[in-house]
Amino acid sequence: MSLPEGVERRDIDGQETLATRGPPISEEATDGAWRAWDPRRSKLAAMVAVGLDLPITAGEPVLYLGAAAGTTASHVADLAPTYAVEFAPRPARDLVAVAADRDRLFPLLADAREPESYAHVVEPVETIVQDVATRDQADVALANREFLREDGRLALAIKARSVDVTDDPDAVFESELDALREGYEILDRARLDRFHEDHLGVIARPRYCHKQNA
Ligand SMILES: C[S@@+](CC[C@H](N)C(=O)[O-])C[C@H]1O[C@@H](n2cnc3c(N)ncnc32)[C@H](O)[C@@H]1O
Repeated sequence: MSLPEGVERRDIDGQETLATRGPPISEEATDGAWRAWDPRRSKLAAMVAVGLDLPITAGEPVLYLGAAAGTTASHVADLAPTYAVEFAPRPARDLVAVAADRDRLFPLLADAREPESYAHVVEPVETIVQDVATRDQADVALANREFLREDGRLALAIKARSVDVTDDPDAVFESELDALREGYEILDRARLDRFHEDHLGVIARPRYCHKQNA
C-alpha cells in the first residue's frame, strides 16, 4: 500500500500514526509541523489504515462531501485544494473556523444532493471523498460524479446503519454497491470495523466520461 506525498507514518506521543503537515486543530497530537491523523476519528484515515490506497495526489483538487467540522477535510487540505461541502449550519461554522488559517480549504454550506448549487464554484476534481452517513449515500456519489475527471477516483465511506438500522450490514453494503455501479466501477473495498463499526470503505472510478470530455 502506498501513501501519497504529504502523508507519513510517524511516531507521535509514543503511538505510530498517520500524519500530515499543517496548522493543528485544538488539542490534536502533533510533532513539530506533523499532525496526527487518527483513524478512530476519520473514516478516510481508517481506509488507509486497513490497507486501501488513498487516491489523492498532492496539489490535485478534491471535493469532500460531508465535511462536518473539518476534522478530516483539514488533513485532506494539507495535501491538496479541497472543496468541503457540509449542509448542517453548526458543524459548518466550525468548518469555516478551521478554514480560516488554511488557504486550500474552501467550505461550502450546501446540500450534496444538490450539486448544481455549487457547480459554479467547484472545478473538475481528481478525487471525491464522501462521508455523509445518510440513507442515500450511493445517490449522493452518483449525483456528484459529474465533478470527477475521467481518471478520477471516489473514496467513499458507507455507514450501514444510516441506510437501514435493522438489516444485516453486509446486505446493506451489497445493495449500496449495486446502486453505485450505475455510475462507478468498484476498484477496492474493505470493512472499517476496527475503527468504525459497520462501515465499509470503497474506492471506485467513474464509469462514464466527465461531460467536459464526452
Ligand atoms: C459522519 S459526519 C462527517 C465526518 C467528517 N467526514 C470527518 O471525518 O471529519 C457526516 C456529515 O455529513 C453531513 N451531511 C449529511 N448529508 C449531507 C448532505 N446531503 N449534504 C451535505 N452534508 C451532509 C452531516 O451534516 C455530517 O456533518
